[in-house]
Amino acid sequence: MDRTTLIAGNWKMHKTPDETEEFIREFSGTYEAAPEVEVLIIPPFTSLERAGKLIPGTGIGLGAQDLYFEEEGAYTGEVAPRMLLACGCSYALVGHSERRALFHEDDPTVNRKLLAALSAGLSPILCVGETLDEHRAGKVAEKITRQLSADLAGVGREDLKRVVIAYEPIWAIGTGETATPEEAQDTIRLIRAWIEEHYDAHAAEGIRILYGGSVKPGNAAALLSQPDIDGALVGGASLQPESFAQIARAALDR
Ligand code: 13P
Repeated sequence: MDRTTLIAGNWKMHKTPDETEEFIREFSGTYEAAPEVEVLIIPPFTSLERAGKLIPGTGIGLGAQDLYFEEEGAYTGEVAPRMLLACGCSYALVGHSERRALFHEDDPTVNRKLLAALSAGLSPILCVGETLDEHRAGKVAEKITRQLSADLAGVGREDLKRVVIAYEPIWAIGTGETATPEEAQDTIRLIRAWIEEHYDAHAAEGIRILYGGSVKPGNAAALLSQPDIDGALVGGASLQPESFAQIARAALDR
């Protein structure tokens, strides 16, 4: 089965609406969109509406960095799925390791967010990954499968088709250290095997699984050449139009 490569840029807490506009203009001037590679930007909430107005016709998709699981109400500071849809988002990250570590999001919360994204019609990008200690202790499989079981609880076969998984080893985020392409491949293979075991072979073949953690123009091609790596979730290197375009071009050459 063909899985369309997805290159997603998680901007984290960077860029104002004006800076977002500048990025979109520069990126769409330098990168020629192609159907084999889906390119997605994931700006802060405050830039989503502007981005949503600018992206039609550019081939760039839009995602949010988080969402809340309620539809509306007294939840100061939170943003509902339908608000994201109204800005033009089609994806939302859930369970990014920074949300889990800095904002104390636990697996039941991640699961509720993922289910809320699905029921609103958004495609969740579920982030999983191990810490350096877990990595050193040989607990990668244990950690990842625990997160998958908890975070995908209640997701049926049909809805799973809209889920993207991003494997982001926490020790590789923003550190300049990456998992080797073989290490990333092995863990992503393990995630696919888990999907096969808990859903079926068809679901495992179809689900897109990304790698994230210090993906740069210089290492993207090697990572993307692995058979089970279906794209990249890029942090720092997605902030400059040219470096993000180079990563997207590396995906085109796969
Ligand atoms: P870096 O690419 O900056 O390591 O960030 C990865 C990440 O967390 C993307 O979600």
